[in-house]
Amino acid sequence: DDPKKLEEFQERIDNGETIEPKDWMPSRYRSQLIRMMSQHAHSEVVGMLPEGNWITRAPSLRRKLILLSKVQDEAGHGLYLYSATETLGASREEVLQQLLEGKAKYSSIFNYPTLSWADVMVIGWLVDGAAIINQTMLARSSYGPYSRAMVRICKEESFHKKQGYEMVATMAQGTPEQQEMVQDAVNRWWWPTMMMFGPHDDDSPNSAELIKWGVKSKTNDELRQSFVDRHVEEAKAVGIEIPDPELEFNEETGHYEFGEIDWDEFWNVVKGNGPMNRERMKAKQEAHENGKWVREAAEEYARKKRLQKEK
Ligand code: ACO
Repeated sequence: DDPKKLEEFQERIDNGETIEPKDWMPSRYRSQLIRMMSQHAHSEVVGMLPEGNWITRAPSLRRKLILLSKVQDEAGHGLYLYSATETLGASREEVLQQLLEGKAKYSSIFNYPTLSWADVMVIGWLVDGAAIINQTMLARSSYGPYSRAMVRICKEESFHKKQGYEMVATMAQGTPEQQEMVQDAVNRWWWPTMMMFGPHDDDSPNSAELIKWGVKSKTNDELRQSFVDRHVEEAKAVGIEIPDPELEFNEETGHYEFGEIDWDEFWNVVKGNGPMNRERMKAKQEAHENGKWVREAAEEYARKKRLQKEK
């Protein structure tokens, strides 16, 4: 890249300007965004699977309607993000192919199983709660199409989190069995949710560059700390225990201190060896294969329309 152009680009970023698809951008800025946005899109669509698993077994019509619309929202988020990634010159087919071939990453969190209905509640509260913290930051990112997609996504995620927390609060006041069920789900989801924010800042090769270019404005550890501070208070309010014996409020810093994440588990899941990685990939590959006739029919329809126009 031309050093003069790089300097002008950095000035635009430092002045808080938004970068639009047709603007000049460093090739590395483009490739970093394609990496991050396509991974994000994949996370949204793979994220439909753990909760989709419970649609047919929701305990009431009201809960079923909420879950259906939530899972549909995640599909919509995937679509905005694939479209936003296309503005950088990476086609949807290309990035989807990378996912289907197991070459693309998606969030580690979706490689854990949903064993009971309480998991659906806790995903809404913790996983969507974590997503909001990360994505509110990204709504201020320097790339226009990404930041605009995030504004709408965050609004929808807020609804997801509220419905999850409302269910957790209800169950936490229920029978001893219900309380046990929701506590068990929190015990299983707390640490994987903490891992969503990525490695420690010292082990995060992309953070410095993304911060320099205004894609991220906070580091992985900073976001993780905000997540802990907020969710520990929410847990207390409804009588849920956080499964971390080292959790302690530090009066001086005004933040909660917490135990160490099992990084071996994290990297194992990221590398494809988590409890549900294989099932998730298989479900996506089958969905792609089963949707082939729809893609072919749509192409044929478009071809006929074109022919009609030409006549
Ligand atoms: N799951 C899987 N891979 C991860 C995770 C995770 N939780 N955290 C980090 N990684 C990967 C990174 O993708 C990177 O791999 P790569 O260079 O091969 O792409 C590697 O670990 C090192 O991490 P970092 O250098 O810290 O990566 P980065 O600075 O991009 O930060 C993060 C990772 C926080 C996930 C960032 O990319 C991000 O904010 N992405 C957009 C949000 C997103 O994808 N959310 C998905 C879950 S939310 C939802 O879908 C409801």
